[in-house]
Amino acid sequence: MAESMKGLKRTCRCAELSEDNVGQEVTVMGWVQKQRNKGGIIFVDIRDRSGILQVIFEDGEIDEEGFAKAEKLRSEFVVAVTGTVTKRSGAVNENLATGAIEVRAKDVRVLSESETPPFPIEPGSKTKEELRLKYRYLDLRRPDLQKNLMMRSQVTTLIRQFLAEEGFLEIETPMLTKSTPEGARDYLVPSRVHPGSFYALPQSPQLFKQLLMCSGYDRYFQVARCFRDEDLRADRQPEFTQVDMELSFVDEEDVMDVNERLLQKIFKEVLDVEVALPIQRMTWQEAMDRFGSDKPDLRFGMELRDISEIVSECGFGVFTDALKNGGSVRGINAKGQGTMPRKKIDALVKFAKDFGAKGLAYIAIGEDGAIKSSFAKFMGDDEIANIVNALEGQPGDLLLFAADQNKIVYDVLGNLRLELARNLDLLDKNEFKFLWVTEFPEFEYSEEQGRYVAMHHPFTMPMEEDIPLLKTNPEKVRAKAYDIVLNGTELGGGSIRIHQDDVQENMFEALGFTKEQANEQFGFLLDAFKYGVPPHAGLAYGLDRLIMLMAKQDSIRDVIAFPKVKDASCLMTDAPNIVDKKQLDELCIDISVAEEADNLDVSQQVRE
Ligand code: AMO
Ligand code: AMP
Repeated sequence: MAESMKGLKRTCRCAELSEDNVGQEVTVMGWVQKQRNKGGIIFVDIRDRSGILQVIFEDGEIDEEGFAKAEKLRSEFVVAVTGTVTKRSGAVNENLATGAIEVRAKDVRVLSESETPPFPIEPGSKTKEELRLKYRYLDLRRPDLQKNLMMRSQVTTLIRQFLAEEGFLEIETPMLTKSTPEGARDYLVPSRVHPGSFYALPQSPQLFKQLLMCSGYDRYFQVARCFRDEDLRADRQPEFTQVDMELSFVDEEDVMDVNERLLQKIFKEVLDVEVALPIQRMTWQEAMDRFGSDKPDLRFGMELRDISEIVSECGFGVFTDALKNGGSVRGINAKGQGTMPRKKIDALVKFAKDFGAKGLAYIAIGEDGAIKSSFAKFMGDDEIANIVNALEGQPGDLLLFAADQNKIVYDVLGNLRLELARNLDLLDKNEFKFLWVTEFPEFEYSEEQGRYVAMHHPFTMPMEEDIPLLKTNPEKVRAKAYDIVLNGTELGGGSIRIHQDDVQENMFEALGFTKEQANEQFGFLLDAFKYGVPPHAGLAYGLDRLIMLMAKQDSIRDVIAFPKVKDASCLMTDAPNIVDKKQLDELCIDISVAEEADNLDVSQQVRE
């Protein structure tokens, strides 16, 4: 039976006590981690978000009623215990912050009983993720998740403090807004008052923060919830949090400077990690050429090398055909992997094929220098020697090559590089390698839409010298856009915005928008720009990703209190769900296709 806490006040959290408190009377409240009954003496570990405290109930020291209650305590009961802090009578527990003390109980109340939980509440749970997500409120009791969420709160507080000190104003923007077709797929919300019309949940506060610049707020930030209906991965959720900012009268240097200092402060205060400033910068082109990725992981080398020139006249059709078709041949050197068994190489070939490779050519250099290769027979010894040289191949190395269109070659080798690093255990979560990637292409060609689409968004300023190319060679236009990358993850991105009419018009033209289409979609922003718009720029971080890396987790699910699984559903609440016919009628919505719920195996839904 649950007792009231009337007349009781918690004096501190469990793990806030130490030897300094010996002799004091305290009242702690929390959950029973475990109870051990040794006859006349009962040991109970009590847990709250600070940690665990050992409480001793000794027959005689506590009255009979209290002792009887202690005998009945089970895991996850909620209790209040009053007692005296003493030095631990038994051996000190080095694994526990409170391992040198214990509390000798004088009084205990059972505030709430608990059924046996479906899995034990303990660190490093081996319980399947889908069960933990169904009972997320229990999973969230585990110290690992509590640590992550406490770190998240600390980081958000620091960000707010820092940005306020730097003169930023925290301003909220609407959640019910207008669909922005240039982004990912929107989440739509039907309007009851305007039947047939829909709001969209914001993919980011982009247009509103630019309007705030027009309105003179000059430095804005927001910890903003964003919604994107896209395929989920370990670092993607349908709703996620951005730390979003915008600044007026600034250039790239200003934006990078304030953000570098912000990151430096967070990493120092939370992890005691020094971030050396300035953070390294690299153009998009260099990142692609050297690492095959626009978010390179700089914790290890294994850089790409272009061997197109060396093999341009060779006898291996796979290479020369790729070159004839405007592609390239590039390779990476997996150091010391020359003796990799055939089976493992085949697995790498399969991995490469998943990223669009037609195959993967290799040279394995034996410890004695002897060459084993899938293509040596088509080449002269000189050509092979030149290729090995270009990749700085040494005895014992494995050289892997892809020949194709650049985009595929980058993608294949960039991902292969990461796969090898994972297999070879080269990725240290305690190392933090930041990088700014700059000069992104303004556009990328969408095969699906048969036109250019903005790589960042349609309001991103092209580099001055490239503005004339907007009309002639859009694919060559570089943008004043920058991403902040950490250990191969895109933490955030931003750009200098277009504030001149003529540039914006050319931009819309290149994107294939008529004036009317542009006005229909972004008219309110274009109108606002007619009334005096300051030059402005901004950036947004994915807060979930930042915390994931700081907390050394593999998925943003581990730093979000109530995340969704791969099919965007919530295993705890069962959202999304069907609604009453009455609700639909009010919204004038008629469901014509009553699709059977996808009976995906739940384990598939959380898998990456
Ligand atoms: P962008 O689209 O690059 O830029 O988003 C900024 C950052 O948000 C994070 N992010 C995500 N995190 C979790 N789940 C997702 N589905 C998800 N999508 C994005 C990433 C990303 O770097 N308005 C612009 C910013 C600007 O120009 O100021 C924007 O939204 O970490
Ligand atoms: P094939 O001529 O298709 O038998 O391929 C000979 C070797 O070249 C095999 O080891 C293939 O895996 C490899 N290969 C095929 N296509 C490519 C490609 N586009 N890039 C790199 N290697 C390839």
